[in-house]
Amino acid sequence: MAHDGQNETPAKITPLKNGPVKVEGALQICGPDGAVLEAKDVVFLCRCGASKNKPYCDGSHKPMGFEA
Ligand code: FES
Repeated sequence: MAHDGQNETPAKITPLKNGPVKVEGALQICGPDGAVLEAKDVVFLCRCGASKNKPYCDGSHKPMGFEA
């Protein structure tokens, strides 16, 4: 899958029960200056706030008992 910033296909966003948000598509993870840090086809984004590797889920939602 191309990661050239030209793909207009919407990302598929799926909140996982008691866990992260799964995002699928031609994704670009950008820093605050807009620079592309990573290009991926799928990422799991933290929504509990406890990850030590934000914006990604690192599994910290499990021991803290995150529910959503
Ligand atoms: S959702 Fe997994 S660490 Fe936050």
